[in-house]
Amino acid sequence: MCGIIGYVGKKNNALDVIIEGLLRLEYRGYDSAGIAYVKDGLLNIEKEKGKIANLKEKLDFNDKSNLGIGHTRWATHGEPNYVNSHPHKVGKISIVHNGIIENYSELKEELIEKGYEFKSSTDTEVACALLDYIYSETNSIEQTIAIFREKARGAYALGIIVDDDYNHLYAVKKDSPLIIACGDNENYIASDVPAILKYTNKYIVLNDGEFAKISADKILVYDENADLRKVEVKEFKGDSNAVEKNGYDHFMLKEIYEQPEVIKATTLPYIEKGVDSLVDNMPDFSKYKKIDIVACGSAYHAGLVGKTLIEEFANVPVTVDIASEYRYKKLFLDEETLVIVVSQSGETADTLAALKIAKEHGSDTLGIINVVESSIARAAHQVLYTKAGAEIAVATTKAYSSQIALLSLIALNIANNKTMKQEEVLEVLKGIRALPTQMQSVLNEREHYKEIAEKIYDHDSIFFIGRDIDYALSMEGSLKLKEISYINSQAYAAGELKHGTISLIEEGTPVIALVTEEKIAEKTISNIKEVKARGAKVILVASENINISGDFYDELILVPDANKLIKPMLTVIPLQMLSYEIAKLRGCDIDKPKNLAKSVTVE
Ligand code: M6R
Repeated sequence: MCGIIGYVGKKNNALDVIIEGLLRLEYRGYDSAGIAYVKDGLLNIEKEKGKIANLKEKLDFNDKSNLGIGHTRWATHGEPNYVNSHPHKVGKISIVHNGIIENYSELKEELIEKGYEFKSSTDTEVACALLDYIYSETNSIEQTIAIFREKARGAYALGIIVDDDYNHLYAVKKDSPLIIACGDNENYIASDVPAILKYTNKYIVLNDGEFAKISADKILVYDENADLRKVEVKEFKGDSNAVEKNGYDHFMLKEIYEQPEVIKATTLPYIEKGVDSLVDNMPDFSKYKKIDIVACGSAYHAGLVGKTLIEEFANVPVTVDIASEYRYKKLFLDEETLVIVVSQSGETADTLAALKIAKEHGSDTLGIINVVESSIARAAHQVLYTKAGAEIAVATTKAYSSQIALLSLIALNIANNKTMKQEEVLEVLKGIRALPTQMQSVLNEREHYKEIAEKIYDHDSIFFIGRDIDYALSMEGSLKLKEISYINSQAYAAGELKHGTISLIEEGTPVIALVTEEKIAEKTISNIKEVKARGAKVILVASENINISGDFYDELILVPDANKLIKPMLTVIPLQMLSYEIAKLRGCDIDKPKNLAKSVTVE
């Protein structure tokens, strides 16, 4: 989704900082980019459709500038073109915006009546005009922002420049991410910390409803009541290397290969001292009779895996919901229900909204989050962090597997001494210790995945099938494939095919079939035989312990055997790798698939 960066400083290098920041925000997904910067007392605005490289061509990097704002836009209101791109300027106000102003239509009508004219289809131009109108009445930017917050409904992070004051950058935030970063004689605003890591790792979190007045050497933050508040400067401990490809062709591939380390880091706090650390370092789940897991996309798929594990091993009923649907269903929430929200970015608007609903209903909430200090992490009652580090590729891989790791540990924690004996728990902990090595062995099979990808990459339609936990994993495999390769792919519960979908199987249709559980293998294999008999090209992903004799598959990928609480993190790797290799053969923009954004900050 949209990325924001802003600079005010004595080094006069606004252009360098803003373009560098925008490049680091590229991963969020965008379709146009723009910059506004002050040069020789005048504000210049440049914007361009498409890549940041197009914008760069229009800029003279010798221009000295002490103040500027930049933006990558992921189109919501109006197509991605020059007029709709940010920054927008109306009267004396220029802004960049991330979020959606929900009541922009009525505001627009009011502003048209007051004589404003609009060039773009965006809600942002309306926000800009509203700010300009209030400013023309109050002549005070502080008052303007305070009144704006009362009038504008929806989500916004805004970077603001006022023509009357080229020594300050202003920022306001509600339900969209924005941080203020602190440099030496220069300060910044950004959608996330990695965007400015080249310059500083010190930052201030701007809370919802707050606004800031920032100069080269001073940062003033005003709270919801417009009272000046004390700021706490934090230090980002993450690795700035995370935003480099380190020799890999794509971030996605690098992140797939990082999984053994990520799983090690994520699980360590809960396994290093055996059962004690599993119990001591996790919340006490004993009071909960029911768990709701709420998330979007791959995080939702991780939730489905978690449901299977928690129900089977810990004997606690779990429902899993897509966050954008959560508010429409009848919720059976009470003090004995734990709501677990799962999110890599910690900024997904739908997940954040679901979390707020759960809190309103009086339930305890637990976030499984990757980005420290993100909005969801701050809003949840408790947080367990995945230690995936910065994930840049839009298609999640390492964050997804680390979410499963934590859900699996939650299942184990609840099961301990209840449905599982300590010896059994210890055995699984031992398995988790061995998991990174097993994952590495699956990763080492890249040549095999490439060979298979070459045989199926030019098909228009690819199916994934499996039963039980393999069905949940199939859904993730299918999402991964379609989002980066643009192949139409569907995941089906293996037993469901003959209720309609099997009519889509033709001679040569690739079907990726997952069989990792011994007790249901026979049934899934029967379903595989049904598609094979109708001409499907079957790629079988099976666990080593499964008896797979017979000629019902064309290609075979074996994954090491492991406890069911551990195996999903092994099985998903070939699915990620196949998607990657297929997308590569199809020449797709793997890290930044079209129309998608890394962090989905609109509902
Ligand atoms: O940041 P989140 O985990 O909340 O994001 C949720 C989804 O948007 C995300 O998993 C999306 O489906 C990925 N692009 C899938 O690879």
